[in-house]
Amino acid sequence: MSNPPCPSPFARVTSGWIPLASCSLLLFVIPARADDGVAKIESVVGTEQAKCQQCHPSEVDHWKKTSHFRSLARLEYSGNSKKYADALGISADTLKTTSICSDCHGTKAVVDSAPQVISGVSCESCHGGAKGWLKSHGEYADGQTFSTLAALREARKEESEDHRVARLESTKAAGMIRPDMLHELATNCLSCHVVNNEKLILAGHKASSAFELTSWLNGEVRHNFFMDADKNAEAPSLWSDVHGATVQQRNRMKFTVGTFVELETALKRRAKATNPTYIAQIGGVVAASNGRLTQANALSMTPQTQSATAVVPPLFATLFAPMRSDDETYSAAAAKIEELTAEFVKQHDGTRLQGLDALINGVPPHYSQQFKEQHSIKN
Ligand code: HEC
Ligand code: HEC
Ligand code: HEC
Ligand code: HEC
Repeated sequence: MSNPPCPSPFARVTSGWIPLASCSLLLFVIPARADDGVAKIESVVGTEQAKCQQCHPSEVDHWKKTSHFRSLARLEYSGNSKKYADALGISADTLKTTSICSDCHGTKAVVDSAPQVISGVSCESCHGGAKGWLKSHGEYADGQTFSTLAALREARKEESEDHRVARLESTKAAGMIRPDMLHELATNCLSCHVVNNEKLILAGHKASSAFELTSWLNGEVRHNFFMDADKNAEAPSLWSDVHGATVQQRNRMKFTVGTFVELETALKRRAKATNPTYIAQIGGVVAASNGRLTQANALSMTPQTQSATAVVPPLFATLFAPMRSDDETYSAAAAKIEELTAEFVKQHDGTRLQGLDALINGVPPHYSQQFKEQHSIKN
């Protein structure tokens, strides 16, 4: 690998300008590894194979219009993809089997006892590999089957509370991530949307998306058709039915949890970062999500957001400069944020976070350029 060009020797931090370490650090690169959140390959069935379509036809139709479905096309060995693959020593034939690219741009499953990419970013990338929960998650009584969607929705009303509680617990234990598990959902999104591989970023790949959970989930990704197959509801329709909560309550929770998890993920990446170019980029993500958290705390203070705003300021002096103790310092900061997120999710349901509404409503739902063009959406 030839050395990438030296980054600018200075990076902006809130307390002034500080010099970055020398370019020799460019030689240290984190080895490629699978990420924390994404579905375990052994438990993946496949959207077609699992027949998600049979009971969730509108969700599947909608998904087929999204960038996630199309992300597989990125795995053609040409253009920028070829450039990044070459830089990481990934060959054309492993791009769609074992490559780290396909961890984020596709869904890997075991096919004929070998890993194979079976689709773009899929249902199971976000809801967890379905092998352990596919059969039970939609059964209102053991071994139940349905001939129509209407019959399925009707059977819901007959389920006993005990059965429901036991069903939700067992599907969770089997790795299912449901819409009311916002912390886990957000962790999954950000495990792909904040990139963890330095070599990849030095080859020119983005370090992160301009991600914000509420707007990025409420645009092209949203597929809330469970209660009414013809209407894409603004909040998950099943969740609304069960909790009786409002769209705005859910948006407030998404906004805060998304910001917490973005900060945690960026801190985790910063902990392992060694290269000045990457450190500058990932430091920027830490600063931006910390800024959003500070703003949210000022508008709707909670004990958890307040404690969280105290985590990053002591780190500003080292945020953009590599230090030997980075792993320890930033991993501890990430763990603290994770703990506060879990506490926040336990303590809040969005009713008391009205202060966030103006901030949330100021950011329009996010659609990819291609989705906008295909469906004539303006924003
Ligand atoms: C045989 C029908 C059936 C199939 C096949 C099926 N589902 Fe479901 N699914 C249901 C039912 C019924 C519910 C509603 C459960 C409830 O009332 O809690 C549901 C609910 C869900 C929910 C929302 C859960 C919640 O608590 O809000 C998700 C997410 C989901 N399914 C994902 C999938 C995925 C992904 C697949 C394919 C891998 C799939 N389902 C295949 C019947 C099915
Ligand atoms: C950690 C997850 C992750 C990994 C690993 C990853 N990507 Fe990406 N990639 C993304 C995300 C997320 C985007 C979309 C970024 C955006 O626009 O918000 C993206 C965008 C792209 C793009 C379009 C933008 C551009 O730079 O032209 C290409 C091409 C691409 N990736 C190729 C690859 C290849 C090839 C690999 C492996 C060598 C790879 N990616 C590995 C997450 C990842
Ligand atoms: C398995 C990795 C992965 C997960 C999990 C994931 N994404 Fe993505 N996402 C991608 C990749 C890769 C792209 C780029 C696809 C492309 O254009 O080829 C993308 C693109 C998008 C886009 C389109 C952006 C644009 O402007 O082109 C949105 C919106 C989005 N993701 C939102 C989300 C949200 C919200 C979640 C969680 C609920 C999520 N993603 C979870 C990998 C992932
Ligand atoms: C990018 C991640 C992602 C992908 C891909 C994805 N989901 Fe979801 N799904 C979510 C999130 C997040 C929610 C909650 C949405 C919200 O808060 O508005 C959800 C909600 C749902 C619901 C509840 C809908 C309701 O009205 O209550 C079902 C059912 C569901 N998904 C099934 C699927 C199926 C089937 C697929 C594949 C075709 C799929 N999902 C693909 C992240 C994803």
